[in-house]
Amino acid sequence: MPLVWNDSLLTGVTVVDSQHKELFRRINELLDSAGKSRERVQEITNFLQNYIVNHFGTEERLMLKTGYSDYQAHKGAHDKYSQEFKELKESIDREGVNINLTVKMNSLLIDWWINHINKVDKKMAEFIRDKI
Ligand SMILES: [Fe+2]
Repeated sequence: MPLVWNDSLLTGVTVVDSQHKELFRRINELLDSAGKSRERVQEITNFLQNYIVNHFGTEERLMLKTGYSDYQAHKGAHDKYSQEFKELKESIDREGVNINLTVKMNSLLIDWWINHINKVDKKMAEFIRDKI
């Protein structure tokens, strides 16, 4: 099951939206990694881990710069996700993508992003959009 982009996910903050689209592309590469070599899968998980850190950093800088009042809660959600992604990455790097990881992968790589963008990022974007 892929992570499907549609434009209802746009936040209206260009840099955030372009990073989200790139994240979707890379996450789909990972979700579609059956038959790929362990090395290739690890390249994708390494890229994603760095990209996620960088993306969260972008949003956090924009929130700080604009004095967004929900910064702490939003950063808390990012920190929690970063930890959970790291654990998933370690499992994937160790075991490869397999059926035992399906539930966790769907939850962290699909549901979390759709939910976070719709509920948390859009709320942030509404506040920061005209201040940056
Ligand atoms: Fe976010």
